[in-house]
Amino acid sequence: MPAPHVIAHRGASADAPENTLPAFQRALELGVDGVELDVQLSRDGVLVVFHDATLDAKTDRTGRVRDHRARELQGADIGSWFDREPARSGAASRYAGTGLATLDQVLGRFGTRLAYQVEIKSPEPELPALLLESVRARGVEGRTTVTSFDASSLARVRALDAGIPLCLLLDRRSRLDLGAESPVEVQRGWVERAARERFDQIGIAAEDLAPKVVAQVEKCGLSVRVWRIRNDADVERAIGIGCVGFTTDWPARALEIRARATDPPGP
Ligand code: G3P
Ligand code: CA
Repeated sequence: MPAPHVIAHRGASADAPENTLPAFQRALELGVDGVELDVQLSRDGVLVVFHDATLDAKTDRTGRVRDHRARELQGADIGSWFDREPARSGAASRYAGTGLATLDQVLGRFGTRLAYQVEIKSPEPELPALLLESVRARGVEGRTTVTSFDASSLARVRALDAGIPLCLLLDRRSRLDLGAESPVEVQRGWVERAARERFDQIGIAAEDLAPKVVAQVEKCGLSVRVWRIRNDADVERAIGIGCVGFTTDWPARALEIRARATDPPGP
């Protein structure tokens, strides 16, 4: 069984502010197999890399991302919050002035040196075509998986591109969508839908991994990717179930554990 890929969640987000060029650079230096990043549309239709729907918690601006133009977002400081505690004692933030990056900037900067799990965070129907345009223009089609909690967004990507790998993320909200069945049955329902829609992977949170669901994913010809890996035990469990990869904020630690537990990963 090939070792799972270690994917730096929002870049090496324990070491540098999430979803920024420094976080992706740090992930590259650590030798990860790939990075995960969140994309959403700016007011003027540019794909920007940012997790939250609003700017309030992690930037020097306020309001919804989608209400700002890309240029304004690129000028926002999304790095200072990372060193907020030292800053309270008077120390300068190492990342002050780091602006939001566009998807195109990230793919242009790192190109084929990284692999990408690009998560669609906003539901605009035009987003999938823009995402594919950027991926193709930067020549990283063979190194990109598109992920989302929103099956409709992934279906739009599939309608535009028959080959790009797609990963449907499942979480507690996914369970509610299907009503009051048991969590395992609900997850299995989503797995069947993902197979029908010609998706490739199911993303399951570490705490939600159930052997029955993993078996169902494999039976449907899909693979499992694990997310929300928070400690050594989660890493060991993800390796043990034979997933293709997992996202973690602590990729350096995960790489150490994987090196002890497995042979090197496949391509
Ligand atoms: O890898 C999946 C994970 O990134 C989804 O959760 O909130 O970090 O985007 P979130
Ligand atoms: Ca994400």
